Amino acid sequence: MPKVITSSEQLELKLSEVPEMPIPKDALMVTPKHFSVEYVINPHMAQNVGTVNKLEARNEWDVLKSTFEQIGINVHVIEGEEDLPDMVFCANQSLPYINETGDKHVFMSIMHADERKEEVPFIEQWYRQSGYEIHYLDDNEIDDFEGCGDAIWHNGRRLLWGGYGYRSSLQAYETISETFDIPVIALELVDEDFYHLDTCFCVLDENTVLIYPDAFTKEGLELINSVFNKVIKASKYEATKLFACNATCPDGKNVIIQQGCTDANKNLRDAGFSVHEVSTYEFLKSGGSVFCMKMMVW
Ligand code: ARG
Repeated sequence: MPKVITSSEQLELKLSEVPEMPIPKDALMVTPKHFSVEYVINPHMAQNVGTVNKLEARNEWDVLKSTFEQIGINVHVIEGEEDLPDMVFCANQSLPYINETGDKHVFMSIMHADERKEEVPFIEQWYRQSGYEIHYLDDNEIDDFEGCGDAIWHNGRRLLWGGYGYRSSLQAYETISETFDIPVIALELVDEDFYHLDTCFCVLDENTVLIYPDAFTKEGLELINSVFNKVIKASKYEATKLFACNATCPDGKNVIIQQGCTDANKNLRDAGFSVHEVSTYEFLKSGGSVFCMKMMVW
């Protein structure tokens, strides 16, 4: 039975028994044409209103896009919209899913901040054109849900990790678990600097995860440690200032990460991963980096 698991006593699943799910080979990216820091909805943005260098941002985005392409990911591009300066963080507006018969589904987000709510229909349009069945959460029951910012697929398995506390509500995972017929392991977030699960939790492959431990409760850490064989821990500096855990490893081998995460990179290489460093400094000003600048799609 699908369910939402919040403590290790409830954890009966064995990873090897969770059905496999194809790993997506395509990504969606939104151009940074209208990216800037214009309001403050997370602590990282506070000092940075009006400081984004648009040319630098475009260069960084271009390099990130070609890095995805170099590791074999096919990138689809959506133009950013005027007056939606955070739309470039396209991990947040949706949660896509492919079922066992190959049908594509997507849940559209309920953005936490009013400033970001209008991004959702632009992203929805892409899914509509790409043959996805669109699902909505009931906004009378659920306050917020920010897509793959908080909902992260376990590499290659029909198992979802769901962060809650700042941008997404725990109740959202009940609906998602039922509709997609999958278990969700829910992790409460307790440090405002790590307001999305993708800021402190990066699934690298089926057995390995990179986390920032202080962003989680004791129950959360127990859940993580019971499912993954290897848990790599990022330092406070690299996690907070360089968003080390907002890296991404789309194929279970190649990790793309903000440059300068020296300790994390050593641990990643020692664990057998290939590390590709990119600069996302302009996007760090808004509280985002590599992971949230793309959406993996089927
Ligand atoms: N300024 C954006 C916000 O606060 C950044 C989003 C980054 N996305 C992420 N998944 N971490 O919503």
